[in-house]
Amino acid sequence: MAAERSNGRYWWLWGLITLAIVAALAWVLLRDEDKTLFMPGPLSDGHHQLAERCDICHGEAMAGEEVIQENCVECHGEDRVKPFDSHPRSKFRDPRNADRLEKIDALRCVTCHTEHKSEITRKDGVTQPRDLCSHCHADIAEDRPSHQGMAFDTCASAGCHNFHNNRALYTDFLVKHMDDTDTRRDGRVPPRGFHEALEEILTYPRDRYPLQPVAAAAVDMPADLDRSEGMNADGIRHWLQTAHARAGVNCSACHQGGDAQAPWRPRPDPKSCGSCHDQELDRFGKGKHGMRLAAGLPPMTTDRARLPMRSDAAHESLDCNSCHKAHDDDVVKAAVEACEGCHDDRHTRAYRNSSHFRLWQAEVLGSAPPGSGVSCATCHMPRVERDISDWSSRIVVDHNQSANLSPNTKMIRGACLHCHGLGFSIDALADRTLVERNFDGRPGIHVQSIDLARKDQENYLKELKGSPGEKR
Ligand code: HEC
Ligand code: HEC
Ligand code: HEC
Ligand code: HEC
Ligand code: HEC
Ligand code: HEC
Ligand code: HEC
Ligand code: HEC
Ligand code: HEC
Ligand code: HEC
Repeated sequence: MAAERSNGRYWWLWGLITLAIVAALAWVLLRDEDKTLFMPGPLSDGHHQLAERCDICHGEAMAGEEVIQENCVECHGEDRVKPFDSHPRSKFRDPRNADRLEKIDALRCVTCHTEHKSEITRKDGVTQPRDLCSHCHADIAEDRPSHQGMAFDTCASAGCHNFHNNRALYTDFLVKHMDDTDTRRDGRVPPRGFHEALEEILTYPRDRYPLQPVAAAAVDMPADLDRSEGMNADGIRHWLQTAHARAGVNCSACHQGGDAQAPWRPRPDPKSCGSCHDQELDRFGKGKHGMRLAAGLPPMTTDRARLPMRSDAAHESLDCNSCHKAHDDDVVKAAVEACEGCHDDRHTRAYRNSSHFRLWQAEVLGSAPPGSGVSCATCHMPRVERDISDWSSRIVVDHNQSANLSPNTKMIRGACLHCHGLGFSIDALADRTLVERNFDGRPGIHVQSIDLARKDQENYLKELKGSPGEKR
């Protein structure tokens, strides 16, 4: 009897505890507190920074699968179309390809990139096995005899193909570049384009900040400003030499949001830069440096990183000023020293041994022409042509340092090809140890893509020549 009664009491207790837990979790969920308790597993490397924003993928109140899909496309849609993607969704809406979806539903992003499953998550957040291409390309060896005997787990792991972006790997591109020399001594990256494009930027506030040097007497800081922190007479003199002051950008442009009547903000945020540098702000928000700011969260800090960071940079946060000093818009320091101030992996540490660094030093010292050096930014923040309106484009410094990182063949067109041949670049990027040594040495790997393309091209030309003769 006694035992039964105490059992009953335990049930009662158990029920109460469960209720308390549910209530506590619900309270956490409804308030702005750590919701990661509810995650079935950690987020992938690409999204771990967004863990405070479940809704950014799941929508409000954990909506269904369609909402997740819409959100994937909301953030990544720009790249998931032709010509940036060789397997866009439109390809699979084509009825002729419908049968391929029976094996693997390529219309849904989560088929290949689900979340919270670290045990099956590979590089690039891929959650399908390496041989996934076999589902749809089982007949490749019949269609292309050159591919006889190749294993399906090598299609995308050996520098030959990617699932999405193949812009440097298409057969006709390979053929066009099959006789490139390895390294061109006269190779240059294009000059930055903001200054030249200013005239065309309609939104530029030139009425308030005409493009002429700010005169010492016209500096528009408030009379009662606390100038103990660097902005004394010397500071101002130094500031008058910056690119901003020489282009007419006065104190109020950053500190008062462009309105000299507005209150003085001691620490202007990235949005205040964005009023004139919208391209830079937009791209910054799409990569790992700026994705938290773009999602309305406090900025990324080094202590949250999964990549190795310097211990003396703990808690450094990421905004425009992480690389550009507030009153010294020197882009040289931003391109190497700033990066080295936070990053601490072998690849980063190896950079100063590379011939690229020597080229960069020569450019900075003025003993080599502009554009001939290779900084961290030359590869990770390349100067690329972008549309800035429906009718014009300019060379923009791509502030999304994730955009060309992986698969790394995306780096070829925007960076390497300015100075190297295609075959050399493919080989160098496929060599993992060489990447780790930051390209200090020649590639020790040879990818066969160009050889295969050359053979196909020769066969094609032979057939073209041979066929009329055979007919007769
Ligand atoms: C980057 C996008 C993303 C973020 C951010 C995210 N999730 Fe998810 N979550 C997913 C995806 C994708 C799935 C798998 C859906 C599928 O396979 O159909 C998933 C599945 C789940 C599931 C399993 C139930 C289900 O709907 O399948 C839970 C529970 C969950 N997430 C909770 C969370 C919580 C809590 C957070 C915030 C702390 C969060 N998630 C943040 C993308 C995300
Ligand atoms: C709020 C915008 C946002 C949403 C929503 C979002 N992503 Fe991302 N995603 C990013 C950013 C930013 C990165 C990091 C930069 C990069 O790798 O492009 C990223 C990275 C990735 C990566 C690369 C992962 C890696 O390890 O490098 C994949 C794959 C990906 N996202 C797929 C998805 C899928 C699938 C969904 C929907 C479930 C989704 N994303 C939802 C912004 C978003
Ligand atoms: C059939 C499988 C498959 C589907 C479906 C798929 N992906 Fe991918 N995704 C991959 C593979 C494989 C990679 C690895 C890099 C590569 O091969 O391009 C990748 C890489 C990525 C990356 C990181 C590299 C890059 O090129 O940007 C992002 C972001 C991404 N996918 C987003 C998406 C989004 C968004 C969708 C839905 C619109 C989607 N993927 C649908 C297989 C898939
Ligand atoms: C869901 C089915 C599906 C999967 C999975 C798939 N493909 Fe494809 N792929 C297609 C279709 C459909 C085409 C266009 C018709 C064709 O050429 O057969 C295509 C075309 C191609 C092409 C030639 C044309 C082009 O535009 O580049 C290559 C190369 C290619 N795929 C490589 C791959 C690789 C590598 C993988 C694995 C990472 C892969 N595919 C996975 C369906 C798929
Ligand atoms: C291009 C934008 C920009 C312009 C123009 C600018 N500032 Fe700043 N200023 C900043 C930013 C950003 C910070 C915050 C730096 C930080 O958080 O470390 C800052 C910080 C300051 C500070 C705080 C102390 C310090 O130096 O960090 C003072 C004082 C200051 N600015 C005064 C001025 C004065 C006076 C002018 C005009 C002569 C001026 N600023 C022009 C962007 C600007
Ligand atoms: C009122 C418009 C305006 C605002 C606000 C503004 N800038 Fe600028 N910025 C310019 C102009 C104009 C130039 C071009 C100077 C030139 O090349 O002649 C420039 C150039 C730059 C450069 C390149 C310098 C060089 O040496 O070529 C950097 C870096 C920069 N800005 C960063 C910032 C940051 C960071 C902020 C916010 C703290 C900011 N800017 C706010 C107008 C602005
Ligand atoms: C204030 C510190 C800081 C500075 C300065 C900085 N980074 Fe980063 N970087 C980070 C953090 C934090 C991440 C995100 C790591 C993570 O999510 O694990 C990151 C990520 C990256 C990534 C990986 C992107 C991806 O999609 O995986 C690259 C590449 C990178 N940074 C290059 C650079 C370069 C090049 C510079 C200089 C031009 C630079 N960083 C300057 C802190 C910094
Ligand atoms: C990770 C470091 C880093 C961060 C963070 C960063 N920049 Fe830059 N930025 C650079 C480098 C490096 C260059 C010069 C690259 C070159 O010379 O090719 C540059 C160049 C620029 C230029 C000159 C562009 C041109 O075409 O002349 C502007 C403007 C600029 N940045 C604004 C910003 C703004 C606004 C932000 C914040 C939203 C920001 N930057 C954040 C590293 C950074
Ligand atoms: C010649 C081009 C080049 C130069 C110069 C360069 N990198 Fe890289 N970086 C790469 C490539 C390629 C990768 C590898 C991408 C991959 O294969 O996943 C990479 C990867 C990275 C990563 C990501 C590491 C990871 O594990 O995801 C970081 C961070 C990085 N680089 C920072 C830097 C910094 C900081 C500098 C300057 C000190 C620099 N890089 C110089 C080409 C370059
Ligand atoms: C602005 C021009 C330029 C760009 C951009 C550039 N490089 Fe280089 N690179 C050179 C030059 C010039 C050399 C030869 C330096 C020397 O031998 O003194 C070199 C050397 C190399 C080497 C070492 C070769 C050796 O013999 O030691 C490798 C590997 C390499 N580059 C790979 C790359 C890759 C991969 C990229 C793109 C991610 C790239 N480079 C981008 C100009 C460039």
